[in-house]
Amino acid sequence: MIEVVELTKFYGELRALDNVTFDVQKGEILGFLGPNGAGKTTTMRILTGFLSPTTGVVKVGGYDVVENSLEVRRITGYLPETVPLYNEMRVREYLGYMARIRGIKRNRIRDRVDYVMERCGLVEVADRIIGHLSKGYRQRVGIAQAIVHDPQVLILDEPTIGLDPVQVREVRQLIKSMAGERTIILSTHILPEVSMTCERVLIIHKGRIVAEDTPEGLSRRLQQSERILVRLARILSLIHI
Ligand SMILES: Nc1ncnc2c1ncn2[C@@H]1O[C@H](COP(=O)(O)OP(=O)(O)O)[C@@H](O)[C@H]1O
Ligand SMILES: [Mg+2]
Repeated sequence: MIEVVELTKFYGELRALDNVTFDVQKGEILGFLGPNGAGKTTTMRILTGFLSPTTGVVKVGGYDVVENSLEVRRITGYLPETVPLYNEMRVREYLGYMARIRGIKRNRIRDRVDYVMERCGLVEVADRIIGHLSKGYRQRVGIAQAIVHDPQVLILDEPTIGLDPVQVREVRQLIKSMAGERTIILSTHILPEVSMTCERVLIIHKGRIVAEDTPEGLSRRLQQSERILVRLARILSLIHI
């Protein structure tokens, strides 16, 4: 469903991504784990067609992100690191607006908005002003806008950052509940996040993929050669001990 081949991205002199290759199967939840500055957001912006690669080929659902960016955006939902919410709008109104600009037919908008509000636990705040919502609810609005056009692919950039533990659990459950029906990539800088939600994990560091495993495999490797890997994980700030 997602193919990334030898992707490199330079910002001026800075090589943010260095020859990154991976793919994601349909229905899979892939975790993108790495410390700040590793290149997670850059990869996600390229996958969603918001940023172009320097070299390499990236395809989503068979569409090239450079040549067919409109199609890519049509089949992809994106939760950016900071969600550009319209703070003065009410939740229902905002989601209707997002549905409209994503090309949903007028007579389908109401149903889609009702569905995503139900799905994301937003029914009780449907008529509240977004700017007055808690961080947890705002994040759910972010996820709701990402799925309002029923995309096959979902790209979530640090979906639980800044949430309290209860909100974190709720958002993780929401993401897990979408497993199988959509292909999902989520990024995070903390190890427990991927263990709880993902089936496969890529570890990215300084723009390179340095490891790939299942969450169980990663934990097993951590236990087996604990001292070295714990030190590595600590250096990468993936665990807080
Ligand atoms: N627009 C930009 N211009 C210049 N450098 C950038 C830009 N965006 C990100 N970078 C740099 O690229 C590297 C990767 O950043 P990013 O993809 O945001 O990493 P992450 O999301 O893993 O924290 C970092 O060194 C960052 O400072
Ligand atoms: Mg980032």
